[in-house]
Amino acid sequence: MADPLVTVASLLAPAFERVAGRGGVDPVVRPSDRAHAQANGALPLAKELGRNPREVATEIVAAAALDGVAALEVAGPGFINLTFTAEFLAGQVALVAADDHLGVRPAAAPETVVVDYSAPNVAKEMHVGHLRTTLIGDALVRMLGFVGHRVIRENHIGDWGTPFGMLIEHVIDLGGELGEIDLTDPGALYKQARAKFDASDEFKERARQRVTLLQSRSDPMTMELWQRLVDQSADYFDLVYGRLGVLLRREDIVGESFYQPMMPAVIERLDAAGLLDESDGAKVVWVPGFTNREGDPLPLIVQARTGGFNYATSDITCVLDRVERLHATLLVYCIGTPQSQHLQMVWKATEMLGVLVPPARAVHVNNGNVLGEDRKILKSRSGEPAMLLDLVDAAIERGRAIVADRTPDLSADERDELGRTIGIGALKYAELSTDRIKDYVFDWDRMLSFEGNTAPYLQYAHARIHSIFRRAEVSPDSVLGQTPLLGEPAELQLALKLLAYDGAVAETLERWSPHRLCTYLFELAQDFTAFYDACPVLKAPSDELRTSRLALAALTARVLASGLGLLGIDAPERM
Ligand code: ARG
Repeated sequence: MADPLVTVASLLAPAFERVAGRGGVDPVVRPSDRAHAQANGALPLAKELGRNPREVATEIVAAAALDGVAALEVAGPGFINLTFTAEFLAGQVALVAADDHLGVRPAAAPETVVVDYSAPNVAKEMHVGHLRTTLIGDALVRMLGFVGHRVIRENHIGDWGTPFGMLIEHVIDLGGELGEIDLTDPGALYKQARAKFDASDEFKERARQRVTLLQSRSDPMTMELWQRLVDQSADYFDLVYGRLGVLLRREDIVGESFYQPMMPAVIERLDAAGLLDESDGAKVVWVPGFTNREGDPLPLIVQARTGGFNYATSDITCVLDRVERLHATLLVYCIGTPQSQHLQMVWKATEMLGVLVPPARAVHVNNGNVLGEDRKILKSRSGEPAMLLDLVDAAIERGRAIVADRTPDLSADERDELGRTIGIGALKYAELSTDRIKDYVFDWDRMLSFEGNTAPYLQYAHARIHSIFRRAEVSPDSVLGQTPLLGEPAELQLALKLLAYDGAVAETLERWSPHRLCTYLFELAQDFTAFYDACPVLKAPSDELRTSRLALAALTARVLASGLGLLGIDAPERM
């Protein structure tokens, strides 16, 4: 167990239990600004025993067997302050260095987790809104996998429904030719079709009939054109994902169309469970607790009057598929905040069906908006929401511009790659280091700065450690296993931070908040800088100390690279 707080809590528990005269007492060990940690459990225990809390705390301290681990002191109304010994921390650091997960504990109960993220729509562009769900989802996928869950990525693309009537009809008008997808305007076809749809009743009617034909899946030509539209968009999505460096692949696409054939049976199940009702000719589910603006019950429409299924039907079917076919117990949805009510209603309906019930559960990892300087959703020059591919390309270009005047000793190819790493890293980190629930203002200068809580700052901290090793002419791996000497406060502080990686990952996953991991990495880089300023490494007073400090540096680089990796960000060795 890497986290000293966890270790010390388990070592303290017997003393608490002795004084309590019962088992199962939590010492409540927390970080502290007075000492390395504090145990707060004596206060509730004293209350339980009807005794003076300081007395109880004093008895616990006397009963505790923490020799060589920590010094204990009763403070305030009955807190127990803990100061770890250097030897204990050094031993823990060595354990972390020897662990290929750097002390991050595997999940106590590994689960099958489906992460639903990105989810763009066919024949439309990926825009800045998809940046958030794509990056947040991708980081969570990496972290869930790192702690040992079986993770299934699902890209729930919009590839079915009414828009395909007009799209297919428009393509037919064009003689069946889709043409090359225009990467500067991937939604061009859609816009043309939409314009025709709005202008012509005749086209509108044809589009309607085409949807019905599509839904019947009976017409080969319709299916063929639909498939080509989907394939073309999948190529485009792949290109964006590849350039952005996220894990989503074509195989991860499980679009709305995938669930269509299962929907009639789902309607029957809802009916058999007595959950189906009719409202205005549509088939609906009344989900308790949801009302419209007038305060009237809000129906969840699962089949339109015309017989067509809709977004809610597809998401209900999706829950059933994930729980019953994939045997997932945790369903994670990375989708913007506006879809919260939709998800809550869908989940409640599947709960009423007896499907989304413990151990199966779902979580909405929602997110706010990316804003421009005008505090409105970030726009492109044309005034539409900024296109994701444009942002990705601009990030790469800006990263390369930074590299151009920094690294003369690299080859042109190496410099291109490094520029990409810096640009994409900055874009991803700006996103992930912000509390996902909040809106944030997109700012190239800030995200590309080498100062502050940014990717370039962290990447540079990592590269700088590697440059120390290049100068020392030893490899980081050769010293990594050494138990460090922790004599200086800055060494102790760095050791403590290195040991907190486990807790940072755990907290990030508990709250589904990648920004917590970012904050941790930023603090780690700062603690390393403080250590490096205070403690000469290459010119350390003794060989022993030099090796010890190199070991701390090597582990810092490891943790930085690992943590950035969990965010989907590369950590170059030179910058
Ligand atoms: N395609 C949808 C949109 O662009 C997002 C789908 C999210 N996932 C889901 N299971 N509903 O709004």
